Amino acid sequence: MQHSIIMSTPTLHIILFIVLASLFISTRGDDQSRKDVALFIFGDSVNDVGTNNYINTTADFRANFPPYGETFFRHPTGRFSNGRLIVDFIAEYANLPLIPPYLQMKDDEFMGGANFASAGAGALGDTYEGFVVDLKMQLKQLEQLEKKLEKEMGSERAKKIIKEGVYLISIGSSEYALPFFSNPTLFQSISMEDYVGMVIGNITTVLKGIYEVGGRKFAMIGIGQLGCVPIMRPAENGSCSGEANKLAQLHNVALTSILAKLEAQLQGFEYSYFDYYTSGSERIQYPSKYGFKEAETACCGSGPYRANSSCGGQRGEKEFSLCHDPENYVFFDSDHASERANRQFAQLMWNGSLSIIRPRNLKALFKHEGA
Ligand SMILES: *[C@@H]1O[C@H](CO)[C@@H](O)[C@H](O)[C@H]1NC(C)=O
Ligand SMILES: *[C@@H]1O[C@H](CO)[C@@H](O)[C@H](O)[C@H]1NC(C)=O
Ligand SMILES: *[C@@H]1O[C@H](CO)[C@@H](O)[C@H](O)[C@H]1NC(C)=O
Ligand SMILES: *[C@@H]1O[C@H](CO)[C@@H](O)[C@H](O)[C@H]1NC(C)=O
Ligand SMILES: *[C@@H]1O[C@H](CO)[C@@H](O)[C@H](O)[C@H]1NC(C)=O
Repeated sequence: MQHSIIMSTPTLHIILFIVLASLFISTRGDDQSRKDVALFIFGDSVNDVGTNNYINTTADFRANFPPYGETFFRHPTGRFSNGRLIVDFIAEYANLPLIPPYLQMKDDEFMGGANFASAGAGALGDTYEGFVVDLKMQLKQLEQLEKKLEKEMGSERAKKIIKEGVYLISIGSSEYALPFFSNPTLFQSISMEDYVGMVIGNITTVLKGIYEVGGRKFAMIGIGQLGCVPIMRPAENGSCSGEANKLAQLHNVALTSILAKLEAQLQGFEYSYFDYYTSGSERIQYPSKYGFKEAETACCGSGPYRANSSCGGQRGEKEFSLCHDPENYVFFDSDHASERANRQFAQLMWNGSLSIIRPRNLKALFKHEGA
């Protein structure tokens, strides 16, 4: 009687294997549909992980030479930092691989997302036109990618990836830096408020464009304390530029108001807004509280505060100095954060409190099933 149900061990092993294998496959399948939320990245040098290596531009818009990348990657990648950027840490926290530049991806190589961000890019089409991939063009590339995905994996699967994906955007700093460098008379012809209004108007158009493609979850990085980055400190006295800080604040107020409006207007639209200004200024004001020793002078560059963007010696000026201990610095070069600062910002975005990432943090944004 017992004999009739006990099989020979080899058969039992095979059946056990099949049962376990199918269990494994089905839970993996569940996990993938539930948890593997793709990450799509847009914007400027805060988010650029190498896009500009693939376009015709100049060293001003590139960081593909040493000492960029020296700390983590041990070689330059195009990231404007000694190591990883905010988006690299966010990908890690979301259990995704490092998200590659869209322009580097080959067909059939979609793995967890795409990065369209281009250093120097702005929301206004004429910001560094011809040297960068502007925000509008980045949206076009998302549209191209969506079509490719539909071809590769079928319409239903592609639409799901687009819909459940998180769209992480950092944009605007390039246009607010323009009046201090290439266009000093800008505010003689337009008020600060109207200029910010143009930038926000263009950002709104692109957010709606991503929504049209199918995107629903938006993570926006506000403008940091722009007037206090080394490159903006006037050489005479080293104080922050009040005018640049005012622009950043005007932008951030307008951006949060438009995000709230879009969430009310557009079915299923959800966002997180990162208060980069406050978290940055905290570290600039009280560096030691966050483990830094230096928050005014950059690690890499030349001149007072190493405010000259000559880091790497490829941007016209060949001379530059480099600190030994970038982890002690808030800024790696004249206008970009060190890896350590980036990690802190990413952690605040991921699971920080609502005073700094609102109305929900990225952990919640990634998890939420959506409408
Ligand atoms: C790249 O830009 C340079 C300078 O603007 C120009 O001379 C060159 O023809 C461009 N090359 C390509 C391939 O577009
Ligand atoms: C953005 O700004 C420029 C002006 O520089 C304008 O020509 C363009 O149509 C605007 N819209 C978008 C979506 O970029
Ligand atoms: C520092 O220099 C700038 C530019 O010349 C000036 O606008 C600002 O008032 C100065 N700040 C102080 C504290 O002296
Ligand atoms: C950097 O220094 C060089 C040489 O002194 C100078 O020609 C250049 O204008 C400086 N650039 C900036 C952004 O200050
Ligand atoms: C927030 O997330 C980071 C990264 O996963 C983790 O190291 C940290 O412990 C988390 N903090 C809290 C309070 O959960």
